Amino acid sequence: MRGRIVATGSAVPSRILRNADLERMISTSDEWIAERTGIRERRVVPQGMASSDLGTEAARAALNTAGWDALDLDLILVATCTPDMPLPSTACFVQRNLKASRAMAFDVSAACSGFLYGLSVANLYVGSGACRRVLLVGAEAMSTITDWTDRATCILFGDGAGAVLIEPTSDDRGILSTHLHSDGAWWDLVCVPGGGSRMPPSDKMLAERQHFVKMKGNETFKVAVKTLEATAREALLANGMDITDVDLFIPHQANLRILNAVMERLGLDKERAVINMEKYGNTSAASIPLALDEAVRAGRVKPGTRILMAAFGSGLTWASAVVKW
Ligand code: COA
Repeated sequence: MRGRIVATGSAVPSRILRNADLERMISTSDEWIAERTGIRERRVVPQGMASSDLGTEAARAALNTAGWDALDLDLILVATCTPDMPLPSTACFVQRNLKASRAMAFDVSAACSGFLYGLSVANLYVGSGACRRVLLVGAEAMSTITDWTDRATCILFGDGAGAVLIEPTSDDRGILSTHLHSDGAWWDLVCVPGGGSRMPPSDKMLAERQHFVKMKGNETFKVAVKTLEATAREALLANGMDITDVDLFIPHQANLRILNAVMERLGLDKERAVINMEKYGNTSAASIPLALDEAVRAGRVKPGTRILMAAFGSGLTWASAVVKW
């Protein structure tokens, strides 16, 4: 037995922050951002809206599509690096909102690789027979950990959520493989240093803006290209596939130049990639399920479509998955 994605859903906040708006906030230009990152605009939550609000909306859309009742759910997983609160988990808030009282719920913490980590966990629970109906959400309010005075990072991130429903299948479709990797030696390439047990909230921590994302952009870029290529290749090898067997490539949406470099190294033509970062920026754990839902709604995913997914993120973490629809 393995897991099969039966429905998708997504949600983004209505407020659009365009590159032109950033030009008025920091020293930058639409041209620079678009050329260096591929991003034109991103969505931003209003004050008081949290990751679970977006995650709940995305989950409801998926449940409606599948015709499932929230009470059918056995397991709710939320991949996020912007939880509503340190505790309880964001998954418990989604469970409460959906009134999915039968489900167990917990968060998966792997930053931008979180959705693929969650897909692996869901697949194992479903494959073992422990769970029959799983909701996996990637939900982020990245704008709440973004330093809007730091032009090197604030241009990159956006808010949103995507959800998938997973049930067991014994046919040749479904989640064919997942490969997960981490290397904590690279923890400081992308991190939020303050607000946790290492550096609890204090006036000093806030004044030093340690509760916002810090990033070594150049180094992250190089590591991202290498790890994405490597994990995509291992996914293909594990499934006896060639790059030409991939119908759709759905990568984590961090930077268009990173993806172009990866696609060139893999020999994958760009028409087969799902890229929507120009509209949403880097939505961390939400980016792959958001792009997947968009591809499903656009009719790009049909029974038998072979999808390669790949992600990298803070940790460092990196991961890939092959799904046959
Ligand atoms: N607007 C205008 N100029 C900017 C700028 C901005 N928003 N941000 C940086 N610059 C400037 C720098 O100050 C630097 O100027 P200098 O040459 O006078 O010192 C110049 O642009 C080049 O900076 P650099 O950091 O080398 O740019 P880059 O080409 O590496 O692009 C990133 C920066 C952040 C876009 C790029 O490194 C990146 O995307 N890295 C990966 C990040 C990522 O994916 N993170 C998420 C992990 S999940």
